[in-house]
Amino acid sequence: MKTKTNLAILASGNGSNFEAIIKAVKKGFLNLDYCILVTDKRNSFVRERAKKHQIKDIFVDPKKFKSKKDFDKKLIQILNKEKIKIVVLAGYMRILSPLFLNRFKNKILNIHPSLLPSFAGKNAIEDAYNYGVKVTGVTVHFVTQKVDQGPIIAQKTVFIKSNMELKELEKEIHKTEHKLYPKLLKKFLENKIEVKGRHVKVT
Ligand code: GAR
Repeated sequence: MKTKTNLAILASGNGSNFEAIIKAVKKGFLNLDYCILVTDKRNSFVRERAKKHQIKDIFVDPKKFKSKKDFDKKLIQILNKEKIKIVVLAGYMRILSPLFLNRFKNKILNIHPSLLPSFAGKNAIEDAYNYGVKVTGVTVHFVTQKVDQGPIIAQKTVFIKSNMELKELEKEIHKTEHKLYPKLLKKFLENKIEVKGRHVKVT
């Protein structure tokens, strides 16, 4: 059964995952009432993408807040005002405070460009490439206080072929992300994702 809802995408950079989600909404693959972009980077390319798709984008300047908690208080205020029910991180490079995590408990999804728990952190694609693993991939997970350690919803492998350039691998990872994230988000919107401790059932 399809349930409509309000969603906020938090992003800090290029925004290709943001755009993949918006395209899925426009195609009617994802059923949303309302979607906004929230960003912590004034000049991020994701804002251009939001403009192109006529998505409301809200920039919150971290420099204006004394602490991470104060910044997140402002985010919560904005999301409450916009009646947001689900938060999707798409290349959002700030760690969320416990305050924010509690407000949206089990309602925050993230995508990470490796097979977690391997290669957590900011440079996962390059780290996996440099390590010389033959298989890497993409993880969609719930966000909890332990960074990159929330319950895993789904993973998709990407093989690193011999002589593959880093650029090629990046392209392959992003292509995989753009398919996987909207697919899982659809399941979440349809209440087909159930989390029990570390275990996540997707039906
Ligand atoms: C994506 O590859 C995403 O998995 C990664 O940032 C990139 C954002 O790309 N996220 C992380 O590394 C989180 N730890 P995009 O701005 O083009 O969507």
